[in-house]
Amino acid sequence: MAILVTGGAGYIGSHTVLALLEKGEEVVVLDNLCNASSKALNRVEELTGKPVKFYQVDVRDSEQIRNVFTLHKISSVIHFAGLKSVGESVRKPLEYYDNNLYSTLILLAEMKRAGVKNLIFSSSATVYGQPEQTPLTENARIGGTTNPYGTSKLMIEQILQDCSRADPELTIIILRYFNPVGAHQSGLIGEDPNGIPANLVPYITQVAVGKLEKLSIFGNDYPTKDGTGIRDYIHVMDVAEGHIKALGAIDSHKGVSIYNLGTGIGYSVLEILSAFEKASGRSIPYIIEPRREGDIGECWSDPSLAKQKLAWQAKRNIHDMVRDAWHWQVNNPQGFND
Ligand code: NAD
Ligand code: UD1
Repeated sequence: MAILVTGGAGYIGSHTVLALLEKGEEVVVLDNLCNASSKALNRVEELTGKPVKFYQVDVRDSEQIRNVFTLHKISSVIHFAGLKSVGESVRKPLEYYDNNLYSTLILLAEMKRAGVKNLIFSSSATVYGQPEQTPLTENARIGGTTNPYGTSKLMIEQILQDCSRADPELTIIILRYFNPVGAHQSGLIGEDPNGIPANLVPYITQVAVGKLEKLSIFGNDYPTKDGTGIRDYIHVMDVAEGHIKALGAIDSHKGVSIYNLGTGIGYSVLEILSAFEKASGRSIPYIIEPRREGDIGECWSDPSLAKQKLAWQAKRNIHDMVRDAWHWQVNNPQGFND
């Protein structure tokens, strides 16, 4: 039996495919490569010495998806595929709702047709909106998302709850990632954003290699330790391993279960910057700019439920995250185009 991974050529997907292969799983990847390169999968094969079965298809193409379910015996699906840029989603809401919602609906329909009952879904801390208190537990209020990307995640969570109610045999694990950063320690795979990065760590690494001039820090007047925003950064390999643990525990789950994947530790923008400068030996010029619209001051997780129920816990610290992000960037200044 194989694990079907949608969006498996992307940032978190490729790291998870690597972890699955290392665990001895058979993996089938679907990706339309709208935000990824097939080179990521070639490198995963190089690192593991194992083949990846890859189909370049859009998850919204039901015929193609049906074909994949016919060709392979699938035990579980991990659904990463989707669009993820917050700013772009504000400009192109229809594209985001179409891609993120429709791909999930097609996938669920084809899983049903094929009799596949297990799904792990990539959600985000963004569903908590403006947190009422930190750390965030899975029971915290959700909603109040400020952009179509976040709202699409919220809607998909709701759709999954409805599908589970209608089919008690479905087992769905929703993983809410906090801020995944870093790269595999080999430096062969990592995050390769299109255009100018919107997120902090890839922006910093591109300043460090000279692709961008300086970092803009969005606000130093938050009620935080140094005035800059605080987030729960988590190493992408810890996120990948969270999926392995969720998969391992799926038979002991029923209905919909939700877990935060975070470290439980919040770092400020200035702390990340300073850790990065230490790891890279480069100094990062920056300026302070006004707050970014839609940003929140602080957000970090209580990851104890995942520890208790999945026996998962983040193992890598902030120094590992910035070191590995740097290692990837300095070895691949143009990402997978090198
Ligand atoms: P990514 O863009 O690197 O990966 C997504 C992959 O899906 C890409 O390879 C893309 O080509 C593919 N894809 C998109 N639409 C598709 C479609 N219709 N059919 C087939 N393939 C399609 O993003 P990522 O950072 O690896 O994120 C993976 C998932 O985790 C996404 O659902 C994202 O929303 C979610 N997530 C990411 C973060 C983060 O910070 N990276 C945080 C929270 C949640
Ligand atoms: C963002 C998204 C969130 C998404 C997550 C992962 C927004 C408002 N939120 O989270 O929905 O799930 O990415 O894709 O975009 N910062 C700077 N300068 C920069 C970039 C960021 O100062 O150039 C600061 C931000 O203000 C924030 C912190 O760095 O305080 C982290 O920002 P970012 O990496 O974009 O992640 P989030 O905003 O947490």
